[in-house]
This record gives sequence, C-alpha cells and structure tokens, in this order.
Amino acid sequence: MTPPYLHVRYPTAAARLPFRQLGSGPTPVRRLAGSPQVWVKDDSGYGTIYGGNKVRKLEWTLADLLERGRRTVVTAGGTGSHHAVAVARYATAADLRVSIVALEQPYDDHVAGQLAAVLAAGARVRRVRTVPGGYVAAASLLAEAAVKGQRPALLPIGGSSPRGCLGYVEAAFELAAQVAEDELPVPRRVLLPVGSGGTAAGLALGLALAGLPTEVVGVLVNDRTPMGQTQVRRLATAAARLLRRAGAALPDGTPLAPLTVRRDWLGPGYGVATADSASAAAWLAEHTGLVAEPVYTAKAAAALRALAADGTPDGPLLYWHTADRGAAPRSRL
Ligand SMILES: Cc1ncc(COP(=O)(O)O)c(C=O)c1O
Repeated sequence: MTPPYLHVRYPTAAARLPFRQLGSGPTPVRRLAGSPQVWVKDDSGYGTIYGGNKVRKLEWTLADLLERGRRTVVTAGGTGSHHAVAVARYATAADLRVSIVALEQPYDDHVAGQLAAVLAAGARVRRVRTVPGGYVAAASLLAEAAVKGQRPALLPIGGSSPRGCLGYVEAAFELAAQVAEDELPVPRRVLLPVGSGGTAAGLALGLALAGLPTEVVGVLVNDRTPMGQTQVRRLATAAARLLRRAGAALPDGTPLAPLTVRRDWLGPGYGVATADSASAAAWLAEHTGLVAEPVYTAKAAAALRALAADGTPDGPLLYWHTADRGAAPRSRL
C-alpha cells in the first residue's frame, strides 16, 4: 500500500520523497485590473495557519525532518523573517522544538509583528548582528540541542534547500494545469521577489519540466546573503539531482527556464523601503486587493508596476504573490 507521505501529484515529479500537506492549491490566478497582459497568481492563502511561499517549501522539508526522526529545527532569517514565522507555527504544530537565528534588520512595526509571531508560536530566538555571527549561533544551537538529546536538524536560511525548492517545482506544474484549463495565457515571464532563492530556483526547474516557455524574472531584495543568477541556477540543479536520485524520470541534462535576477528595485538594502516600494504596495492593493509586506513583495510590486507600465509588448506577464495574507500593517507601507 502507498504510504501517505508519498507525493505523486505530478508525473515528472513522481519521486519517492516525504511530503506533508500544509496548504491546498491551485491558488487563484486573475488578471490585473486595467492591464490586459498582466496576471497575478496569489499564494497568500496557501497554508492553514500561515500563508505565502514559505509553506510550499515546508511541505517537503518538514516532512523530511519528521521522517528522519528529528525533534528540533534550527533555522535562520531576518528578525522579521516570514520563513521563521512559518517554521515556528508549522513545526511546533508538528511537536518539534524550533530555534531561530534572527539576523538584525531595520526595525519597524512589520518586523516587530513577525518576531512577536515567532515567539508566540513557542520558538526560541537568538538575535545576531552579522551573517558570520549567525553561523556561530546556529552551530551552537545545534550543539546544545544535540547534547540534550533533542535530535536537531538545520534548515537553511529561508528554507531554500534543494528539497525546499520542490514546493515551487510543483507550483509550476500547478500553473501549467491552470494554463491548460485556459485560466490564463502562457506567461512570457513570471515575476517574483528573490530572497534566499528557493522559490525562483523551484520555478526555473518546474516551468522547464512542465514545458512552459516562460522566463523567471527575480527581483533581488536581499543584499546580505545575495542570490544571483548563478546561485539560483545551482540550487535548481541541486533540486533536479535530488528528484533524480529519488526516482523521478527527468530528461537528460537539467532543463531550466531562462532566469534573470534584477537588482533594480533593491534600493539601499534588505528591509529598507524605497519611495517606490511604499507607493507600489498601495498601487498593488488598489489594483488587486493584495497586501504586500515591505521587505519582499512591496519591491516586487514596484517591479511589476514598472513592467506593466511598459505594456509588456513581448507577451503576458505573471506576478507571483508570495506574502502571507495578513503580512503587513498597511499603515507602514
Ligand atoms: C514574502 C516573501 N516573498 C518572497 C520571498 C523570497 O523567497 P525565497 O527566499 O525563496 O527567494 C520571501 C522569503 O525570503 C518572503 O518572505
């Protein structure tokens, strides 16, 4: 009999890997009001106790930790990390201990709210000022938990392990099914924010495997552990290797969608709003009803507004909304 964790939703990704369903798709797609060539796919409601892109990654990484008998998760992100909130909520719900290494970022109401959510879920937080300090803190949290017999495992920053990328390999197949059902035209480009890179990497692999001739355009928002095109491609290739090792029949070589990572909307740095991002979040809310948080989706919204204003002459543009539904105090944007 098939064990319940075997996830064989899509034939090309039919690998024997643990999977734990935390959300349900397909997530909605709709046209951007006033822009006939621009579409939006909304992952904000993917997940039961928290939404957004981090949940699709956790469906694979959390299942793997449980399968391997791990009892403690150590992971890292900014002080206002959405990944940290997702891990804190879903992993504690699965009876795991959670320790978060939180790298200081510009502090505002949004960051305070995220940190409060992490603590409210029962996670332990160790705050650090530098990336090297984060590595030291993660190593010491892992060692402490191991000494206490708490069977710890490290989940990479942002949940962007090759396994975490599988969430967006699958999401690309979900999109392909929506295209096949005429919910939207074949997108020429998919636009999304790039932090730790796993979402863009998963899409680059998944879109190519699903046979969509779509380019991934990433909006870089993270200059502290920046992920450029080479790093994102490397991550996508590692995800393909994982699928192959797990028995998926992938074509030879690693097909990846064309990928561009653009710095144009980063501004002064990670977590620092730009004049453009603040007004773009308001513009996105007005045109779609979606709530952008300031760190990722507000900057992606600035990119979307600029690209949509060009009329996207080379074909349909799809903006993939990756924030949780309630991700931002609107007054701050
Ligand atoms: C709301 C939101 N959008 C996008 C991203 C970027 O995703 P990734 O880290 O996979 O690049 C993140 C996290 O980093 C996020 O929290």
